[in-house]
Amino acid sequence: MIRLPLPGSLRLRFLLAITLWTVLGVSAIWLSATGIFRAHVEQSYHDELAVHVRELGRLTTVSPDGRLVLTRPLSDPRYEEPLSGFYWQVTADGRAPLKSESMTRGSLDEQIAHSPEILHTLDNGPTGPAITYGFTRTGPAGEDIHFVIATDQRELERLIGSFTRDLTLGLVGLGALLLATGVAIIGFGLHPLDHLSRAIARLRQGEAVELEGHYPVEIAPLAADLNAYVRQNSEMLKRARVQAGNLAHSLRTPLAIITDEAEQLARSTGSAQAAQVLLDQAGAMEQQIEYQLARARSSAGQPLSGHQTRLPDVALPILKAMERLHPSKQFRLEVNDCAGLALPIDPVDYGELLANLLDNAGKWARTQVVLSFAGNPRSEITATIRDDGPGIPEEELERVFELGVRLDPAMPGSGLGLAIARDLAQTLGLQLVLVNQAIGVAGILSPTARR
Ligand SMILES: Nc1ncnc2c1ncn2[C@@H]1O[C@H](COP(=O)(O)OP(=O)(O)OP(=O)(O)O)[C@@H](O)[C@H]1O
Ligand SMILES: [Mg+2]
Repeated sequence: MIRLPLPGSLRLRFLLAITLWTVLGVSAIWLSATGIFRAHVEQSYHDELAVHVRELGRLTTVSPDGRLVLTRPLSDPRYEEPLSGFYWQVTADGRAPLKSESMTRGSLDEQIAHSPEILHTLDNGPTGPAITYGFTRTGPAGEDIHFVIATDQRELERLIGSFTRDLTLGLVGLGALLLATGVAIIGFGLHPLDHLSRAIARLRQGEAVELEGHYPVEIAPLAADLNAYVRQNSEMLKRARVQAGNLAHSLRTPLAIITDEAEQLARSTGSAQAAQVLLDQAGAMEQQIEYQLARARSSAGQPLSGHQTRLPDVALPILKAMERLHPSKQFRLEVNDCAGLALPIDPVDYGELLANLLDNAGKWARTQVVLSFAGNPRSEITATIRDDGPGIPEEELERVFELGVRLDPAMPGSGLGLAIARDLAQTLGLQLVLVNQAIGVAGILSPTARR
């Protein structure tokens, strides 16, 4: 398939340069070839006419009865063909003129034949402008005999015209061939770059963990640097995640001690109020720690993880777990003939994201929860989690994503689920919204503009 070069692309630059170069080259060849050919043909025409007029002089005699006669016809038969464009004429004062058989009408101007030296000019002939050659010789009675020979200029132009046509055709063919080979050379030369951009696309899609393939020396360092960068980045992320996890863990024990002390304080009279403040603050800190630990456990933030996650495969075990967790509710999966649905994201993160939403739906559903996947494979998949519970007040739909926000104190939970879910969705390049439906809530996970 022929790919049109994109504006601003290297391909377009090369193509423009090659086109310009070909047009300039072919035009230069055309101009010089036609110029040289014209000069050459004109020269040989003139040489030929000079020879013919000399031959005419040699073959012409004056007969004893005073007539101008030709001892034999001129060697070129074109002088005998009527109005062929090749004419000769011999005139002398007081004698009947002699004309070539081709000159069935008109005559040549003998003006050019006024010296023994052969002269030429462009004159009017019987059939248009003609290149005319002539000279004089003194006859037996001392009179001037004028020898004139002429060829239509259009003969010369016809010859040059036909050469130019052939040359133009040939050069247009050559130009097209050069352009075609130019395009092929561009394709061949830029192939490694195409290869590189495909490798980058595979990396972004998560189909590869690094840039694959061998590259020419000019871009091999670039590919190697990129690979090193990708590796370093993912190492750094891993380290940061481990550190965040460690930090959260190390804070847990001191916090438990603080909470314990605060509880003891709360029991003693006089410091109950202060102890409550301590307990509240310790609770908030614990929430933060739980949140950070959950984030650290997930592998989100690794967009180049090299995974293609088949969504139904991720969803099924989670649905099973949810059925055990909420035994009185029904969980259903709807995958509308898109069994091949896959996303280039981490299955652990995606699973955790689904689990958070399904757990909420399970907690508040009356009877059933439906998880459905829809869209076209790979890029445009939307997951929707619907329950038939009480729904969320419209004005709280955004607030429930905040850390620790719970609307229903009767239900167990820490108010972290949705905060974590939105955070995960963002890192996975997905958009998470909650909408109220006629009955219940729908959590909708759809692709944002691609990462
Ligand atoms: N499907 C739902 N139906 C009704 N209310 C919901 C639904 N999903 C979430 N909510 C409300 O949003 C609040 C926040 O949800 P979130 O998942 O963040 O916390 P949680 O479920 O209470 O606790 P956790 O998930 O941390 O165990 C919930 O407490 C609940 O009031
Ligand atoms: Mg929850």
